[in-house]
Amino acid sequence: MAAAEVFPLVKIGGLADASASLSRALHEMGLDVRVVLPGYRQVIKALPAARSAGDVRGIAAPGTSRILEAVLPDSHVPVYVIDLPSLFDRDGSAYQDTAGRDWPDNAQRFGAYCRAIEGICLGTAGLDWTPEAVHCNDWHTGLVPALLSLHAPRPPSVFTIHNLAYQGNFPQGAFRALRLPDALWTPGGIEFHGMMSFIKGGLAYADFLTTVSPTHAVEITGPGLGFGLDGLLRFRRGALSGILNGVDYRTWDPRKDPHIARGFWTHRLDGKESCKLALQAQAGLREDAAAIVLALIARFTYQKGVDLVLAILGDLLAEPDLQLVVLGAGDTGLKAAMHAAAHAHPGRVAAHVSHDEALAHRIVAGADMLLMPSRYEPCGLTQLYALRYGTVPVVHRTGGLADTIVDVTDRTVADQTATGFQFARAEPGQLLDTVRRAARLRRHDPGLWRRIMRTGMRRDFSWAASAARYAELYAQLLPLRQL
Ligand code: ADP
Ligand code: GLC
Repeated sequence: MAAAEVFPLVKIGGLADASASLSRALHEMGLDVRVVLPGYRQVIKALPAARSAGDVRGIAAPGTSRILEAVLPDSHVPVYVIDLPSLFDRDGSAYQDTAGRDWPDNAQRFGAYCRAIEGICLGTAGLDWTPEAVHCNDWHTGLVPALLSLHAPRPPSVFTIHNLAYQGNFPQGAFRALRLPDALWTPGGIEFHGMMSFIKGGLAYADFLTTVSPTHAVEITGPGLGFGLDGLLRFRRGALSGILNGVDYRTWDPRKDPHIARGFWTHRLDGKESCKLALQAQAGLREDAAAIVLALIARFTYQKGVDLVLAILGDLLAEPDLQLVVLGAGDTGLKAAMHAAAHAHPGRVAAHVSHDEALAHRIVAGADMLLMPSRYEPCGLTQLYALRYGTVPVVHRTGGLADTIVDVTDRTVADQTATGFQFARAEPGQLLDTVRRAARLRRHDPGLWRRIMRTGMRRDFSWAASAARYAELYAQLLPLRQL
């Protein structure tokens, strides 16, 4: 399992949650799954017991180049860490420096990571283990299927698209600097409009492609959400499927979440009210059990529609019982705008612009509604966490949000399947109307609101079913190993 983010070692977004929790679920099913990730400074620090197990060959990076072996915290899943201090031992995040700029040598960094994985797959890294199949995730791992395609025998590969907008496109010079074989530089290979594209290495060469919800698997084969790669994805449609992400309910359980003020469950919803009061107190919102607390927890990017929330803020606050709490990191302009909003509306708007895992839990537990006006959302995990904590999602009907949230309609109220509120287009007016629709129901029919909360809390998005589908894919791949 190759991923550039793995919770709790390194996390920017849902990729970290998905790679870690899927690996744990597969391990619990009895598969010998091993995770491989780059040795960022924070990862090396978090794994003091890691031991040297192999080496990285064929890359031009000065200094140490080792593969360390450790265990994913709180699990029995083995982890291989690619220890290349010249590329990964730095301040800043997995992808960016402390000023929020992409590392200028990202092609070298993730190119070396892919070379190291190639070595593990081919048994040339000096480890006492080789995989029967390799599961790659997002562009950082895209060169692996491409490199393996040049070998026989080779372990077959699955490539999972978590976010097609991030493609790892670099000038042709990066291709040469990585000393990649010329055979890969074709329009059917990793060349993309004169650039080299890491993600195309996965999309063009992996044996199977998946993305993280059935609806998104269809969306990415069209021009709207294909990000310029829809032609290739239509060509590979026969190999592409959508498998919904699961939730690790050990980490996200309102009955025993160490981060929240008081545990709660469907028959003990008063605990949720305590969480709300505690959140209001901590965040600096007016402490008022009758207020309706809206929450936004997201990477601050165009994808997440953070700007749509800003656009309707004035109208939202015209309703005196609404409050907004925001947690996000990313775009500097959006961070400044959220700060300004909080400053202008003390007691009504609270903004936290950092990455804060514990606060994310407290907000999910204490809020009444979660806003996800994402322009696109391959799966989305935050809405699944919200469901479990009785926080009713208000979402744009796209990707995994369309697949996981059941809109409140006469029919879904009658058959008791409603879990949230959807709107058709990611536009401010539609978001505003839908929040108002939800708030009216919350005020005027608290009994129905509680039923919607409870239906969402009981929905089961645990990994069992989805992990079994991945295991089936791997099983289908194994005969390809003989090629
Ligand atoms: P994406 O992967 O596109 O960011 P997901 O909904 O799949 O979206 O996953 C987002 C994950 O990141 C969730 O676990 C969410 O709680 C977390 N998250 C996002 N922003 C923050 C933040 N500022 N602090 C803590 N957790 C965050
Ligand atoms: C991506 C997507 C998100 C998905 C996550 C994990 O970052 O934006 O929708 O839930 O990956 O698969």
